[in-house]
Parts: sequence; structure tokens; C-alpha cells
Amino acid sequence: MFSARSVSLSFSGVRALAGIDLRVSEGELMGVIGPNGSGKSTLFNVMSGIYKPDSGQLEFRGRMIAGMRPADIVRQGIVRTFQNKRLFSNMTVAENVMVAGLKAAPGSALGDVFGTQGSKAAMRSCEQRARQSLEAVGLTSMLEVLAKDLPYGAQNRLEIARALVLDPSLLLLDEPAAGLNPSERGDVRELIRSIHGRGIAIVLVEHDVRMVTGLCPRIAVLDHGEKIADGPAQEVMRDERVLEAYFGTQEQRERAHAGE
Ligand SMILES: Nc1ncnc2c1ncn2[C@@H]1O[C@H](COP(=O)(O)OP(=O)(O)O)[C@@H](O)[C@H]1O
Ligand SMILES: [Mg+2]
Repeated sequence: MFSARSVSLSFSGVRALAGIDLRVSEGELMGVIGPNGSGKSTLFNVMSGIYKPDSGQLEFRGRMIAGMRPADIVRQGIVRTFQNKRLFSNMTVAENVMVAGLKAAPGSALGDVFGTQGSKAAMRSCEQRARQSLEAVGLTSMLEVLAKDLPYGAQNRLEIARALVLDPSLLLLDEPAAGLNPSERGDVRELIRSIHGRGIAIVLVEHDVRMVTGLCPRIAVLDHGEKIADGPAQEVMRDERVLEAYFGTQEQRERAHAGE
């Protein structure tokens, strides 16, 4: 479905992505983990067209997408959420999802959408998709609540609803459980399962490694902008390079274990 080949991107000399190869299959649920600053969000920024890679290829369902504008990539079916949520805090839950949905409506300037006959149909279809995506994340009882008044876990689910309204076939989730308590994390885990159950492919970036290993049969690991492992979750979590990236070298680990 998606492949990145030798994708690199530097920020004033810092290699944020160094020759990344990544494949995602139709309907797959895969995890991407790695220490802070290893390039996970940058990878999503490149996949969603926010940044253009310095070099390398990005292909989605047979189309080259590197250099496409973010709105065009959304129309292809790749939709992402943001680690720092992009909610409009003084808008209601329903409005937040509507605004996200209208952004991608065909011929999409907001003025258009409220004007002509054809755009009334677009508006109705957007309302319907908004309702469905709010149902999917379990927020239909809070439609009129302002985003800023939502509990933290519900804000994260609203951020996911704003992505679902764009009808993704590949959904990129950037730390959807960040800052949540265990019960809210459980809700997000079930939500990810149910979205995946609808046939949507998901790439999950998440700090909570146990959540990722619990959900994702396959995991890729980034470290300093490089992919250091990619494979079945259990194998990857035993990989020496992965253990080093997270916990230090074997020698350091043994010393720490011995309490030195
Ligand atoms: N817009 C940017 N400008 C400069 N440096 C950036 C920018 N975005 C990311 N970086 C750098 O790229 C590296 C990877 O960052 P990021 O992708 O956010 O890591 P992660 O999401 O894995 O924590 C870091 O060194 C970060 O400081
Ligand atoms: Mg990040």
C-alpha cells in the first residue's frame, strides 16, 4: 500500500531521517517506536506532505507522493493526527470535526461550501461523516461541549475523530495515548483496534511500548533517524540494537542490573 525508500531529511545539518525504508500493507496495523528525537514525528511529517524529503521516494497505491501538498495527500487517503493536538479549544466537539471534514471537501474553500446548491450536499455529507466519526470514538454524548472543557482522554479521541472524518485508508497516529491515565489508555487501545477492524491501515507511533507490542504484530524501530529494526514485535523487542537504543549496551545493562 505504502512504501518509503531511502528517505532522508536534515534540519540545518541534523539528520532527522537517514535513509528510511518502510513498507505498510493494505489493512495492516504496525507500530513505530524509538527514543525521543529519533525521527518518528518527522517520518509522519514527510508521509503527510508537511515536509518534503531531501531525497528518497514515497509511494502510495502506485502514486509517487513526495512533494505533493498535504491536502492532496489527504485526498489520496493518508491522514495523520498530531502529537500536539490541533483542536480549536473554543469550538464544540461537533464543530471541531465539521471544520476538519470541510477542509477536505471537494472544492474546499469554506465560503464555497456554505454557498451553492452542490455545496449544500457537500455540507450534508460532511455532517454525516462527522456524526459517524464521533460515534466511532464514543463522543456522541458530548457534541456541544467545548474542546477545552473535555477530559484529556476525550481530547485525544476528538483528535482521532478529526482524522476519521477525512475517510483515511492509511491512518497515522502520533502518540495518541500521550499523557493519558491507564483507563484512558485502555480506551485508546480499544479504539485503535476497532478502527483497524474496519479495514483501515494504521501506523501507530507511541511512547508506551507495551501498548505498541500489545496491538501491533509488526514494529519498526527508529534511532537517530535510522531504522534499526523492523519485524515481528517479539523478535524486535529482543533485538540487541533495540535494547541498546532504549537501555544502553549489554555491559551498561548488566552493570545497572547489578546495582552499580
Ligand atoms: N522543524 C524542525 N526543525 C529543526 N529540527 C527539527 C524539526 N523537526 C524535528 N527536528 C529534529 O529532528 C529530530 C527528530 O525529531 P522528531 O521527529 O520530532 O522525533 P520523535 O518524534 O521521534 O521524538 C530531532 O533532533 C528534532 O530536534
Ligand atoms: Mg514525536
